[in-house]
Amino acid sequence: MSLHVIEHPLVQHKLALLREYGISTKSFRELVSEIGTLLTYEATKDMPLQEHSIKGWQGNDIKVFKLQGKKITVVPILRAGLGMMDGVMELIPSAKVSVVGLQRNEETLEPVPYFEKLVGKIEQRLSLVIDPMLATGGSMIATIDMLKKAGCTHIKAIVLVAAPEGVKATLDAHPDIEIYTAALDNHLDEHGYIVPGLGDAGDKIFGTV
Ligand code: URA
Repeated sequence: MSLHVIEHPLVQHKLALLREYGISTKSFRELVSEIGTLLTYEATKDMPLQEHSIKGWQGNDIKVFKLQGKKITVVPILRAGLGMMDGVMELIPSAKVSVVGLQRNEETLEPVPYFEKLVGKIEQRLSLVIDPMLATGGSMIATIDMLKKAGCTHIKAIVLVAAPEGVKATLDAHPDIEIYTAALDNHLDEHGYIVPGLGDAGDKIFGTV
């Protein structure tokens, strides 16, 4: 399955708090980060393990399982994606970070990259693209285009809230990727906001409301 809606009670509880009218910047930031951690836990649960033999606490050899060492790059989409970064890195602290910035071309309405700093040998890594809101899917699709152009073949998206329109557009363009989200909301309004959504997640994270 390509869309994973994480219905874990902790995720849903934190998302409910995040949706509250008048939430403070501090609480919003903390919850975005915490949900980012929980979604990362789910998005990494198929990472391959390798059997090792180690000396256990009694001094005899025991078998244990460790990560096979598949490398990861976290890809925050500027600017709201930065708000999830600490939470994601909490679980995968050695992941390298590839930052992507996009802006809308006012004539074509297409997202155009204005910043792209990808890590070296990115094609050997699992890319975890992070952005709190999957609305129209424009930025997500452009970011995945960019990653595939750089040779990436294993890409997952982690978003807090998704609109059906954005999920469809993203999976139509890139059926091979997987999307992890805390909620699949109802629809986009005429201004491109997700309903019920969270409002402008970037403004709420950075306190620029
Ligand atoms: N970006 C946001 O921050 N919120 C939305 O609802 C849609 C896009």
